[in-house]
Amino acid sequence: MLALHASNISKSYKSSGQTIEVLRHVDLQIASGEMVAIMGPSGSGKTTLLHVLAGVDVPDSGTVELGGEDFSGLTEEEKAFFRRTHIGMVFQDFQLLESLTVKENILLPLILNQKDVYWQDKALKKVMEALELAEFADKRIAELSGGQKQRVAIGRALIHEPGIVFGDEPTGSLDLKTTRDVMCCMVQMNRKFGSSFLLVTHDAYAASYCDRALLLQDGKLKSEVRKQESNASFREDILNMWCCLGGEADDFL
Ligand SMILES: Nc1ncnc2c1ncn2[C@@H]1O[C@H](COP(=O)(O)OP(=O)(O)OP(=O)(O)O)[C@@H](O)[C@H]1O
Ligand SMILES: [Mg+2]
Repeated sequence: MLALHASNISKSYKSSGQTIEVLRHVDLQIASGEMVAIMGPSGSGKTTLLHVLAGVDVPDSGTVELGGEDFSGLTEEEKAFFRRTHIGMVFQDFQLLESLTVKENILLPLILNQKDVYWQDKALKKVMEALELAEFADKRIAELSGGQKQRVAIGRALIHEPGIVFGDEPTGSLDLKTTRDVMCCMVQMNRKFGSSFLLVTHDAYAASYCDRALLLQDGKLKSEVRKQESNASFREDILNMWCCLGGEADDFL
């Protein structure tokens, strides 16, 4: 069963009378439970691709299926419901609601999906335990560190047990140690909840926690490498793959 099946995706923007072709005939398949990193330097189209795959933006051509369902024919309202039930999102800047507590932020998808209190309590307990957030449950977001905020965002992304979680540079504003903690946390949650993860990043270290990494260059997914042994050797493989395509290792450090 595929969590994501994208075929022949193209997307361009019009800006100052010019057309910028960002994605050119991109194909991508992600298996259920798989963790995939899409890497590319700044401006290569990672966020554009993620938005198209998550149904936030519409491609010029091509199709996207999530869990076997194509959402292209849905109305905006139906699409929003589809996203709330099938997808989790994690962002570089967390995008948590500062006026709410940790617990309230994590519960948001279930409240929006009108799940009853019994269901909310059960799901919240599972997520809080898995993320070791119980002691922070009633704290305000402003009282948390960057790594703690991202754990809350991961909890919010997973509480409704979506088929896939999309992350746009989820470790982009974290230091190395916190990046490690957050990536370990995502791997743990991937194993516990079985949701697939698609992370876009320009950080080869963060990508090395995934099962597979692909490179986005000139609007195409050009090459891919799978984890064989350790994270460290996978990171080396990712950097070698990028250098073989003519890139600089510095782009991904
Ligand atoms: N709404 C828009 N209108 C016009 N051009 C856009 C728009 N959004 C993105 N672009 C252009 O599309 C290209 C890809 O942008 P995108 O944000 O997808 O790249 P990215 O790989 O996510 O970059 P970064 O690593 O800096 O986040 C860039 O040249 C950008 O200027
Ligand atoms: Mg981006």
